[in-house]
Amino acid sequence: MFHHYVGENLPRSEKIEKIVLEEILNSNIPDNKRENSIAWELKHSSGVIQIAKLLAIKRGLDVEKAIAAAALHDVYAIQTGKYEKHAAKGAEIARELLLSNGFSKKEIEEICEAIKLHSEKEKYSGNKLVELLKDADLLDCLLYDPNIYSGKPKNIRNAIKKRFRKVCKQLCLRSFI
Ligand SMILES: [Fe+2]
Ligand SMILES: [Fe+2]
Repeated sequence: MFHHYVGENLPRSEKIEKIVLEEILNSNIPDNKRENSIAWELKHSSGVIQIAKLLAIKRGLDVEKAIAAAALHDVYAIQTGKYEKHAAKGAEIARELLLSNGFSKKEIEEICEAIKLHSEKEKYSGNKLVELLKDADLLDCLLYDPNIYSGKPKNIRNAIKKRFRKVCKQLCLRSFI
C-alpha cells in the first residue's frame, strides 16, 4: 500500500518533496510579503513534480532526479517570497538538501544545474534533465493561465510558445496558446 508520505522510510526523492511542502506550509512569510502566494507555491510545486514525472517516463529519464529537480526548482522563492535570481540562488539551497538526503555528488550536480538554468526557457542546453525541468515548469504555468507570460518581451514569448508546442506534440496534446 502506498505510504502517502507518512513514516521514516520514504524514498529520497519523496523526502525532498515532503521537505519542500513543509517549507511552504510552515512559512512565516505571509502572502502580502510574497511575489506569489503560499497557495500558488503549493499548487505549482505539486504540479511541476507530477508533470516532471510524466515527462521523465515519456523520455526515459531518471524519475527520482526529475522529482527532486521539480520539487526544489523554486525553493529560493518559497523560502524568501522573492524571485529575483531565484534559479541560481535556489540551486545552492538545493545542494545542501540533496546532500543530506542521500543523493550522490554526480546526481546533485545534475539536479542543481537544472535548477540553476530553469528560468532560461528561450535557450536549449542539450542537457535532458535541464530541458525536462524547463518544460515541466512551463507546462504547469500555462495550464493555470495561457497568458501567464504576456509581460515578457516578444522574442521570449515566441520562444516559450515554440517550446510549449514541442512539448504538446510529444504528449499528443493540441496546443492551446
Ligand atoms: Fe522559477
Ligand atoms: Fe516554477
